[in-house]
Amino acid sequence: MRVSMSLCCALFAVSAGLAGAQTKAAMTPPMGWNSWNHFAGHVTDADVRSAADQMVSTGMRDAGYIYVNVDDTWQGKRDAQGVLHTNERFPDMKALGDYIHSKGMKFGIYSSPGAKTCGGYEGSLDHEAQDAKMYAEWGVDFLKYDLCSYNDNLLAAQAAHPDDPTIKKTMMIAAYKKMGDALKVTGRPIVYSLCQYGVDQPWKWGPEVGASMWRTTDDIDDSYGRMIAIGFSQAGLSQYGGPGHWNDPDMLEIGNGKMDQDEYRTHMTLWVLLASPLLAGNDLSKMTDADKALLMNKEAIAIDQDSLGKQGDRLYESGDLDVWTKPLTGGRVAVGLFNRSWSVRDVSVDLAAIGFKNGGNVRDVWKGKDLGRRSGVFTDTLVKHGATLLIVSK
Ligand code: GAL
Repeated sequence: MRVSMSLCCALFAVSAGLAGAQTKAAMTPPMGWNSWNHFAGHVTDADVRSAADQMVSTGMRDAGYIYVNVDDTWQGKRDAQGVLHTNERFPDMKALGDYIHSKGMKFGIYSSPGAKTCGGYEGSLDHEAQDAKMYAEWGVDFLKYDLCSYNDNLLAAQAAHPDDPTIKKTMMIAAYKKMGDALKVTGRPIVYSLCQYGVDQPWKWGPEVGASMWRTTDDIDDSYGRMIAIGFSQAGLSQYGGPGHWNDPDMLEIGNGKMDQDEYRTHMTLWVLLASPLLAGNDLSKMTDADKALLMNKEAIAIDQDSLGKQGDRLYESGDLDVWTKPLTGGRVAVGLFNRSWSVRDVSVDLAAIGFKNGGNVRDVWKGKDLGRRSGVFTDTLVKHGATLLIVSK
């Protein structure tokens, strides 16, 4: 009995240590690039290698974007031993991972708890441990795990058990935990990114399944309407984000061309205030100076990555005007002023209401300008769909 108790405690300590390693991989919101928003189902090994090269040449890597993530459609077929092979567009995943690592970045991959991914490729159902081990052997540092066809399993279970209202949720959590546990067993710190579109409030159970981040909504697209619908719907979730476990309102669309610069500025402003993972999804070979200025603004990134690890939240909303704040280290507060209307509008924040009763020093991040000591109500005039990002300090 005594022997088995100490064995149990030793095993617990090992497993707790590994869980710690997973958490440490995402002490600040993960930053990188993902293939989906630009390449979707056509991505190749060559595209990802060029993306890795461009992450370096554009300065993205040095700005903090270190994950290079292959999304859906890399998979081939399983062999008789259940080993999943890649398809012809990805001849050698280990070599691809080595290439990304040789450039000083980390390697991400994608799968599903279902039999099929959303693109109809092989998922990890019933092969979780085998796939996790293979990812670790390839040097994978990040796994996005997308519900996709596992939803069919959930619906089938619900149909078979119509009187059990919780069966879908219980099964989904178990499926995500299965892969979370399999990743831990590999001993490799792998950021575990849940993608199940916010169903059943993953912010409440994500940490228990070993998740480093979880999507809070359905997919983003490159439109102002969709981006603000997702971004502003994050109000009230700040208590669930923090070091090692982040709310994920989906990848960035900055640079994909269908929003104007004021709209992309709103996108970046809101995502950094949300302490969101910053996964760029643009064609890195065609970055304009304006895209670079938004994606690589050091002060905006520092707000996202602030070591206090607090997610921002809404201070107030009035019609199409919105004010959000995010506490930062050193008693500073980041403030976002937003104008969602189609005309020029004044947007104000009362500095006393955000902890600066005696006023504070105000810095405009996008202008890169100190605005001096201010007290009382601070007002800025914003263009349509515009945003201002401030840092207020004592
Ligand atoms: C969606 C997911 C997207 C992308 C796509 C790939 O479910 O939300 O981000 O991964 O699947 O098929």
